Amino acid sequence: MASFQIIVGSMLGGTEYVAEACEETLIELGHQVKVHLQPQFGQIPSNNQIWLICTSTHGAGEHPDNIKNFIEDLTKSDQDLSTCQFLVIGVGDSSYDTFCLAAKNTEKLLISNNCKKITPLFTIDMQANIDPELLAQQHMINKKDLLY
Ligand SMILES: Cc1cc2nc3c(=O)[nH]c(=O)nc-3n(C[C@H](O)[C@H](O)[C@H](O)COP(=O)(O)O)c2cc1C
Repeated sequence: MASFQIIVGSMLGGTEYVAEACEETLIELGHQVKVHLQPQFGQIPSNNQIWLICTSTHGAGEHPDNIKNFIEDLTKSDQDLSTCQFLVIGVGDSSYDTFCLAAKNTEKLLISNNCKKITPLFTIDMQANIDPELLAQQHMINKKDLLY
């Protein structure tokens, strides 16, 4: 069993549903899960944790408003996150040049703080005719052997 902190970046609510679908699947897989809808960097446990960041992209490749403080604090922080692992799910629209840029930039920031990437960025393209919650849940199940 692992302990997950799900960190959500969502402007219109869609990515929040994706995060909650992941929460449901991770609990079914036997993990402990806490969801952060207004993430505060200093208040999220990192030691021996898995951070699952689910974020959409808005503006010209920007983070959603609710996760901006978290990203700013992470950018400024020199905290060593080497005892923390992460995976990122990006929700976006491939008609933008900046497809899932916020998710890509989040990965870079976490890596620069020594956080260990478990699996490559998983992107969900809202341009396609898909069920984003189901895709995210399938991703969790596909990667379940890496989540410990
Ligand atoms: C004003 C606006 C700007 C957007 N900019 C981008 C973008 O730069 N890159 C991208 O991949 N998707 C972009 N999108 C698509 C959103 O990421 C997509 O609609 C997503 O599902 C929104 O998730 P949310 O409901 O969690 O905010 C944009 C959408 C809107 C409405």
